[in-house]
Amino acid sequence: MNTIGVLTSGGDAPGMNAAVRAVVRTAIAMGMKVKGIRRGYNGLIEGDIVDLDIRSVSDIIHRGGTVLYTARSPRFKTEEGIKEAIDNCKKHGIEGIVAIGGDGSYRGARDLSLRGIPCVGIPGTIDNDISSTDYTIGFDTAMNTAMEMVDKLRDTSQSHDRCSVVEVMGRRAGHLALQTGIAVGATAVLVPEVEFEIENVIEKIKATQKTGKKHFIIVVAEGVGGVEEIAKKIEEETGVESRATVLGHVQRGGNPTIRDRVMATEMGYAAVKLLNEGIGNRVIGWKNGEIVNYDIYEGLNMKKPFDEEMYEIANTTSI
Ligand code: ADP
Ligand code: F6P
Repeated sequence: MNTIGVLTSGGDAPGMNAAVRAVVRTAIAMGMKVKGIRRGYNGLIEGDIVDLDIRSVSDIIHRGGTVLYTARSPRFKTEEGIKEAIDNCKKHGIEGIVAIGGDGSYRGARDLSLRGIPCVGIPGTIDNDISSTDYTIGFDTAMNTAMEMVDKLRDTSQSHDRCSVVEVMGRRAGHLALQTGIAVGATAVLVPEVEFEIENVIEKIKATQKTGKKHFIIVVAEGVGGVEEIAKKIEEETGVESRATVLGHVQRGGNPTIRDRVMATEMGYAAVKLLNEGIGNRVIGWKNGEIVNYDIYEGLNMKKPFDEEMYEIANTTSI
């Protein structure tokens, strides 16, 4: 392969820049040229493609967001859109692509691979909800951001003897909520994977009140939602003044942690090595402490069970 492209797609995640840097530098070290495709698959359709050299990825390893920009591209899911994308690959001499994103981005990479442009996916999302990997780039940074934010809420909650009901990101997955909940000592963690009854949360608050607890943190995943209603109900039923907070997109920003930078660099390197060997239609993952890769189709069909034991630990240690 002489020239490869790199793109970031779907929601941005801290560490995507470190992955882009690793892809560019590894490819150049292996004798290839690199094109940066901007705004995900939209850039491929619109021909928003730039040459990247060794220095064009200087000073980005520590920055959140993505210098290549990102987007969700509904057009790419159409026959006409993908045809234009492939025409542009040919026009720019792009023979393979590294796509950094989530499951949706992997589906796009699979479609391109099936049409003759070998792609390798790298998992980049703060949700850690990709089945073919134990870890996704951005998760550690987002967990630390959420933890710091909830620590701040705890100060005011503790001063006022209040209950703080906090929504963290994760529309379909509760991994971020669960880890954050454990780290902040939340009284309850509500996630989309486990059905909950508000009465149980109220009972738990009442039980901990009896042993002297005066302020409370309830972590709620975005996919569960309803933090205002939950706070209102808690206040009505327990008499504890309650406030709801939605952390929102702050969780997607900020300088990546060391874990995200190192993981992104390892994954970027591994992806380019595959393309350099002419291997495409793969996704990079981190499983049992090792970098691995799978066929995209196989990867998309894997299951990622919710960590029931962690959930149990969260509940047990918050009595
Ligand atoms: P993520 O990659 O974080 O899961 P999305 O689900 O929004 O984010 O997907 C990112 C982009 O990947 C979409 O905007 C679209 O361009 C492409 N994509 C998503 N799903 C598909 C699909 N089923 N087939 C082809 N491309 C897809
Ligand atoms: O997938 C990452 C994520 O931040 C989810 O946690 C969240 O549900 C979603 O993206 C938000 O998407 P948007 O940035 O389009 O509001």
